[in-house]
Amino acid sequence: MDAPIMKGVCFVFAWSAAVLFRAEAPTRVGVHDSLTIFMRFGLTFLPLVLMHLHLAQPMSHGADTLKEASPFPMGVGIRDRVFELPGDWPLLTAHYEYVTPENDMKPVAVQPQPGQWRFETADRFVDFALSKKLKVVGHCLVWAKDDRTPPWFATDGDKPASREVLLARMKTHIDTVVGRYRGKIAMWDVVNEALDDGSAYLRDSSWSRACGEEFIAKAFVYAHAADPDALLIYNDYNNELDGKFEKMVRLIESLHAQQVPMHAIGLQGHYELDMVPFEALERTLAAMQRMGMKVVVSELDIDVIPRGRWWANNGAERATLSKYDPYKDGCPPEILQRQAEQYARLFQLFRKYSDTILRISFWNLHDGQSWLNDFPWKRANHPLLFDREKKPKPAYHAVMRELKP
Ligand code: GLA
Repeated sequence: MDAPIMKGVCFVFAWSAAVLFRAEAPTRVGVHDSLTIFMRFGLTFLPLVLMHLHLAQPMSHGADTLKEASPFPMGVGIRDRVFELPGDWPLLTAHYEYVTPENDMKPVAVQPQPGQWRFETADRFVDFALSKKLKVVGHCLVWAKDDRTPPWFATDGDKPASREVLLARMKTHIDTVVGRYRGKIAMWDVVNEALDDGSAYLRDSSWSRACGEEFIAKAFVYAHAADPDALLIYNDYNNELDGKFEKMVRLIESLHAQQVPMHAIGLQGHYELDMVPFEALERTLAAMQRMGMKVVVSELDIDVIPRGRWWANNGAERATLSKYDPYKDGCPPEILQRQAEQYARLFQLFRKYSDTILRISFWNLHDGQSWLNDFPWKRANHPLLFDREKKPKPAYHAVMRELKP
């Protein structure tokens, strides 16, 4: 029940009980009468207590939710087995319109061996989402990294699979997965993480070695044929940064010149505290707006225990870092405040480009479920808008202030 309705019901209830109590108040007080008074007194104040408890819940009802305040649809990547976690549902449905299953639609989950399809969790996820009137983002059809693709995809006997074999396998995979959920999945991350982090255009993988850029184009063509109404996304990380940004523009121009049905760019948005690339992000959003290219912010979070050092000096700091867990007993208020300010700046920027942004999705529902508690080492992280008790953090209030100034 919405808070104002609940408030109204409680008020009427309390008022009627109070009138009854006064009208029938006994003049002489025996044991029986004491009980009556006690019960009437209880009846009078119970609704007020209930109302207090209800309003003290984490903000999850009424007009003050992310999805109600936001000019763009809000989404979240969540546990695949959310259908077994009723404790997550109120927060989820109050604030978000789109859900992405965290893992169970990935190629390795859906087709671990050729023709061995595993749809049980994904099916239940989709049914759950639709029953709660949530829209689903499918994630992802091709993950252009060899360590994230089932190994059988890339081999043919004892040889690497040829271009033809790879593309045929990809087509079967996409036809089967997209076809199964046709009309039920609103948006698909079609290709994930294909651009190279170094000097090459595409990441080195069985896909790029055998097919060059063609595997990206074909993935979109196959997905569009399997569900012409789904919105199709190219998704990557750091694609707003110098170097990768230019590769992304090259990819967009090339796919558009071939009339490939790629409808939006996914900026994952896995940022780190004090290192959010605001300028690069603004340049990217402005460029996408000029090119008429839509954007989704697909996996937003702000890590408060920056992870960059994990990869520095060829991993020399890893032994030390793997014991580094500075906020295991809670995140200091000044860190939460800095995080809130940086989220606020991000949402100022997003509002400025709200005509270009189709959706903003956080990656995970609350701090306790964030992937950043485990990646790249185990630590208690605090990257999201809701804490481990699902209560709104300073970052939540800062974002809300930006969404409805
Ligand atoms: C990438 C992927 C996501 C997920 C996150 C970490 O961003 O696109 O599917 O694996 O990493 O959880």
